[in-house]
Amino acid sequence: MEEEISVLPKHVGFIMDGNGRWAKARNKPRTFGHQKGADVIYEIVSACFNRGIEAVSLYAFSTENWSRPREEIDKIFDLLRRFLKKYSATLLREKIRLIISGDLSALPDGLREECERRIGETKAFSSHTLNIAINYGSRAEILRAVNLLKGREGEVGEEEFSSCLYTAGLPDVDLVVRTSGEQRLSNFFLWQCAYSEFYFTEVLWPDFHEKQLTDALVWFSRRKRRFGGV
Ligand code: FPP
Repeated sequence: MEEEISVLPKHVGFIMDGNGRWAKARNKPRTFGHQKGADVIYEIVSACFNRGIEAVSLYAFSTENWSRPREEIDKIFDLLRRFLKKYSATLLREKIRLIISGDLSALPDGLREECERRIGETKAFSSHTLNIAINYGSRAEILRAVNLLKGREGEVGEEEFSSCLYTAGLPDVDLVVRTSGEQRLSNFFLWQCAYSEFYFTEVLWPDFHEKQLTDALVWFSRRKRRFGGV
């Protein structure tokens, strides 16, 4: 199947949906589903980078996710903290730049500090970027950019506006993968997804492995992208 991938996306965004349903189907608490969901993340991220994809964005916690039970929120934060600790040496060894999209100020101190440390120590890397969206909402990100530009004289162009987003300097998202059968964007990088291809699969996130990634990339490779042209 590999030879069928003739065009690679530069930037892939993953909406990692279906952890709760995966756990429910096994009579387990939702938090167990998040744990399993976290377990597959590095497999997918490293497979993307090994294939030559430049940037991977993961939707880990949205501004709307605060309405979930506290226990579930704490579990997701704990998984993020563990993920960053577990893979900190790997990020350095593999020269992967970590960026976080979202407002870190509302996060528990330990998690915020862990994020800041890993961002700082990988900031000089440029060939691969892992972008984790935490306490992220695209509308909030766009408003933040508007406010950063407030008071600036003259017209603002697309490039300048993009440079005020969390993803400054990254290519637009070429491919969005959403698992679990839901077909919506849920406030995920609205500006950056203006010309994305959308791949929806019934597979639940904890069951999304390299085989499923390959299927998504083969599908992407067959798309005819016209960017408004003919
Ligand atoms: C959506 O599934 C998933 C989330 C809101 C959390 C995703 C977080 C992780 C996979 C773990 C932490 C992340 C990292 C980067 C280590 P859902 O709970 O909405 O599933 P459901 O629709 O089946 O209920």
